[in-house]
Amino acid sequence: MSQDTFPINGVDHVRFYVNNARQNAYFYQHAFGFDIVGYAGLETGLKHEVDYLLKQGNTRFLFSAPIRPGHPMAEKIAQHGDFVQDIAFTVDDVDWSYKTAVERGATPAREPFSLSDEDGVVRLASIKTYGDVIHTFVDRNDYRGKFLPGFKDLNEPGDNIGIVEVDHIVGNVELGKMNEWVKFYADVLGFTQLVSFDDKDISTEYTALMSKVMANGSQTVKFPINEPAEGKKKSQIDEYLEFFGGAGAQHIALRTEDIQRTVTHLKNRGVLFLHVPATYYETLGERVGQIEENVRDIASLGILVDREEDGYLLQLFTKPITDRPTLFFEIIQRKGAKSFGKGNFKALFEAIEREQALRGTL
Ligand code: FE2
Repeated sequence: MSQDTFPINGVDHVRFYVNNARQNAYFYQHAFGFDIVGYAGLETGLKHEVDYLLKQGNTRFLFSAPIRPGHPMAEKIAQHGDFVQDIAFTVDDVDWSYKTAVERGATPAREPFSLSDEDGVVRLASIKTYGDVIHTFVDRNDYRGKFLPGFKDLNEPGDNIGIVEVDHIVGNVELGKMNEWVKFYADVLGFTQLVSFDDKDISTEYTALMSKVMANGSQTVKFPINEPAEGKKKSQIDEYLEFFGGAGAQHIALRTEDIQRTVTHLKNRGVLFLHVPATYYETLGERVGQIEENVRDIASLGILVDREEDGYLLQLFTKPITDRPTLFFEIIQRKGAKSFGKGNFKALFEAIEREQALRGTL
């Protein structure tokens, strides 16, 4: 049962397709505290696109933009807006990973290939997942450089705000497709299901959704997968699918060791968060018991708390980070809890519905 049938070391990087990589790099540097550490473009021999690499803790974001008319990337960006195009995995054997995944039913995106420069060799290959998202396998065991061959180093530091790593990335898929993608992660990548939430867990007066959380053998990669469920009004998942133009990554949860510091910085730099009503904190003590943080501080930042058997977690969600009501971020700090804040779903979804009502999409 505990046999890992598809070894993955972790999320290597998250690649975004965007209209303007330079401006995205500034935003994530200034607002989210990332360092801008790498660049590839015309000056490094790329003819049609530009890439900026950002890093904080073990989190790597890659922003890629087309720089000529008619680029295929531009079509995807026109369809989805800026979006998560690749959730890349670090593996030890790219050829085995690719061959095995395809044998088990994955759709190929790119066959194994090597990139090299004076710092060594990186082996890569990609498979498709939901929507226009791919998973690239990356083996950098024979590479001494910072990222990939062809990138030049940049040194434009941000103020590190305590972000450590990607905790989980949530995919929104079409009605009736959740179990297909759950099966894909189980059959192809050997993931197992950690938890499931149905519309009894995740429903408000108006909207509902279903969710299953898949994790790889070493639990270094966690992917909740959502689909809409029948509700009185349009669910947040329906809204996402409509504005995004299909299935895609809904939110990226970034783990911090100090959520108060992280959220304070983000707020000071203008990042907007969802608000829960003050009444949420009146019953906090009954729901979660003793916590190390000062409840008044937590409340003033609007941070949510949930407790489970093994401990508790603190979390908070941004409003959509793009023009479309699609991609957003979660900031999460874990104090023993391994789950996803089920106790906060109701307050959270009601907050999302208030935003949907303002957008006229509820
Ligand atoms: Fe989450």
